[in-house]
Amino acid sequence: MTTARLPRRLTAAEPGWTARADVIVVGSGIAGLTAALRARHLGRTVLLVTKATVDAGSTRWAQGGIAAALSEEDSPEEHLHDTLVAGVGLCDDDAVRVLVTEGPDAVRELIDIGARFDVDDSGAIALTREGGHLRDRIAHAGGDATGAEISRALVAAVQLDLGIEIIENALALDLLVDDAGAAQGVTLHVMGSGQRDGIGAALAPAVILATGGFGQVFGQTTNPYVSTGDGVALSLRAGADIADLEFVQFHPTVMWLGPLAQGQQPLVSEAVRGEGAILLDSSGKPLMRGLHPLEDLAPRDVVAKAIMRRMREEGTPHVWLDGRMLGADTWLQRFPTILENCRTRGIDPVTDLIPVAPAQHYVSGGVRTDLWGRASIRGLYACGEVACTGVHGANRLASNSLLEGLVFARRIVTALDDDLVEREPEESDGPDGLLTHAIRRPMQQVMDVEAGVLRSADSLASAAASLAHLGASGGSRPSTEDWETTNLHQISTVLVHHAAIREETRGSHWREDFPERDDARWRVHLVTRLSEDGTLVTREEPVRGAQE
Ligand code: SIN
Repeated sequence: MTTARLPRRLTAAEPGWTARADVIVVGSGIAGLTAALRARHLGRTVLLVTKATVDAGSTRWAQGGIAAALSEEDSPEEHLHDTLVAGVGLCDDDAVRVLVTEGPDAVRELIDIGARFDVDDSGAIALTREGGHLRDRIAHAGGDATGAEISRALVAAVQLDLGIEIIENALALDLLVDDAGAAQGVTLHVMGSGQRDGIGAALAPAVILATGGFGQVFGQTTNPYVSTGDGVALSLRAGADIADLEFVQFHPTVMWLGPLAQGQQPLVSEAVRGEGAILLDSSGKPLMRGLHPLEDLAPRDVVAKAIMRRMREEGTPHVWLDGRMLGADTWLQRFPTILENCRTRGIDPVTDLIPVAPAQHYVSGGVRTDLWGRASIRGLYACGEVACTGVHGANRLASNSLLEGLVFARRIVTALDDDLVEREPEESDGPDGLLTHAIRRPMQQVMDVEAGVLRSADSLASAAASLAHLGASGGSRPSTEDWETTNLHQISTVLVHHAAIREETRGSHWREDFPERDDARWRVHLVTRLSEDGTLVTREEPVRGAQE
């Protein structure tokens, strides 16, 4: 298979300005904002850099909620069980244990910071259910506006803290390292004014990446336009370990807006099925009946695959979600955002079926970390969707993503105390490389068709060849779109490389030519590093901790 050689840095340009702090946090979703606040509790100064505005990341789009064993009927052990089942044998048991045991306190702390969750008649946090959960354990806010409420509360707290300097419109380009190879900051491109404009250097002995996912690799995604995987690509170029990129989750119920729709698409939360809605095929038959004991609330990969199969059999571009039985009051109170999204597109879910199809939603892999969020480069940390902590395995359990960002951001800041060594960064002299944004759409088409939901050796070889060809088309003037496109290209290259190596079907990785899960051979993580000469070096790593 042809695989593109990738550059070791985005730019060789000299930084025009320098900023310093104890800790740099890149990204301003739940993970980044929590890390910044926690670092301040320990008396650190923080530089929070974010690519657009401070509230523009994926967090604010999260609808369903945040999963944690908050009720007396539930327990971390049960949450552990459901997470491991959804992860199809590839979760790191020790990381999941951290997630589920520290999760409830982390959510309570979020409430102390000011997040207002919905409550039931007795005043207790109202909990609902989503796919793969055997208990009601999803806390939600504003009905279906959980992420927006969490983002509001955290942004307000960060903005009140004078020890946190926020730099908006700042794209992180490359990691800066000292002569011992430890992280000492990042180069940034800031579209600002005055002193902080153009390419600069943000220096600190701790760099926490919280840059979210890379949904923009695909043509249709629930992710916002800022989700271009900048943290994963930056870490790859710096030589950090990148794991499990082949596990890209497609959400089963994304509103279908027609064959030409592109970019961010409206999500119809699993919580709608949690409240009783069901999927129907084109002839009106319940689609999940008889396919899984949990039917419409089966884990996400199971439902997405069942929908894709039925769409292929029927030759239709979507299926239907029937939520009419919920009634007008439930729609209004529990799902005001989705109701509005539907009605502005001429669909009234109180009386109409909603056309839905799977679209990219989340990536389980990312920058490989230990249980304290440490990447394989000293001083570099990752939390939230950018990280591969091992909690999601081959398929993330619904509403575990906000929880992961929260829990591991807290842990990173605890670990920092032992880790910080401040030194001057070295000049870096690796080859740089930049692609034109003109390749973004053709690249997305390649990824949609050849490396999306359905994959095979042939489709992946063709995708790799196309990526290598597109990667040779450089020669552009630096702009945010070009840098982001270069990041997307690098991530796509690793994703396709992993997907071709993994000759089995597991969780969200679906190989048509290897339709079975193969535990004897493939119960391992694939971990890739970019070598000095720009080639990918991949090794297998056993899953951590005891497994069922
Ligand atoms: C949803 O609300 O269905 C999405 C929740 C998640 O991705 O965890």
